[in-house]
Amino acid sequence: MTITTTANTDNAAANASALVEKAANAPKAELHIHIEGSLEPELIFALAQRNNVTLAYDSIEALRAAYAFTDLQSFLDIYYAGASVLLTEQDFYDMTMAYCERALADNVVHTEIFFDPQTHTERGVAIETVVAGIDRALADAEKRGLTSKLILCFLRHLSEADALATFEAARPLFARYARLIGVGLDSSERGHPPSKFERVFEQARAMGLKLVAHAGEEGPPSYIYEALDLLKVDRVDHGVRSIEDAALVTRLADTRVALTVCPLSNTKLCVFDDMTQHTLKALLDKGVAVTVNSDDPAYFGGYVNENYRAIIEALKLDSDEVYTILRNGFEASFVTPEERAALIAKLDANWNRATA
Ligand code: ADE
Ligand code: ZN
Repeated sequence: MTITTTANTDNAAANASALVEKAANAPKAELHIHIEGSLEPELIFALAQRNNVTLAYDSIEALRAAYAFTDLQSFLDIYYAGASVLLTEQDFYDMTMAYCERALADNVVHTEIFFDPQTHTERGVAIETVVAGIDRALADAEKRGLTSKLILCFLRHLSEADALATFEAARPLFARYARLIGVGLDSSERGHPPSKFERVFEQARAMGLKLVAHAGEEGPPSYIYEALDLLKVDRVDHGVRSIEDAALVTRLADTRVALTVCPLSNTKLCVFDDMTQHTLKALLDKGVAVTVNSDDPAYFGGYVNENYRAIIEALKLDSDEVYTILRNGFEASFVTPEERAALIAKLDANWNRATA
């Protein structure tokens, strides 16, 4: 009896590790990555030295040791301090290229990247400098097989007026940079509901931009309803607290509005006590279009493949479930129908499936 149980456990572990490897090798999309959250401590220190910026930590190890977060705000305080080393176009290029190298290594073939212009403009960096550096790196990465889009995020802890002014300053960039296709909403969620940004999202919608918003990460399901009904978002970032509202889950499943879920982020920021408590599988079981992403990989212990590993192991996902998540990433991406079909065909060939 004991022998059988041990054999079963060994089998399950072997199956999980084969599936982790299969997922790692699969072509995939990443739809929720803050480029400032890809700044590794080594690069933070290198840029601080290059730009004569003084950091509150005297070594890479001391900085990394501070990455013990209790909630979203405790992380954001360190994340904004890390971003303070970014000053020149080359800095934004270097940060973005470092992320692209990691993404390529994880077999990401399409990525949709958030950036926070207000974090930089309030330090005197021109918004054009930010976008030019990021876009130049993305153009170089595209030559190596990584396509991309860029999404400008408003910081929700700042005022509506600040978001409106940022959007005005960014208007010419939407015409100049083909990759810049949408707006999003991030930063401190509690106390800053989506309704605060209804008017700026209305203006973005009038321009035909894609719309996303963080909602239901720490905030209640009512914030997800606001993102859907007031901001009229195309995707919800995180959205894991939707599980608390059955009608909302049904609505998400019926409308196929995708959730860009970030498992390692959620456990590092104590949204869930541990990965076995994560609601991703429950949402998937109910037909919600769940995707898997890294959020701020330099801070949360891993890039996108580590996120797949974490959920495959903790939630005991099977091969069909992992395929569905990978496919959802392409279904929910802001590419053309032709590009989507080609990406899904690539996944199906890799996964040994006939394209439906
Ligand atoms: N900015 C960077 N990461 C974020 C997150 N997980 N939630 C809200 N804002 C963010
Ligand atoms: Zn995020």
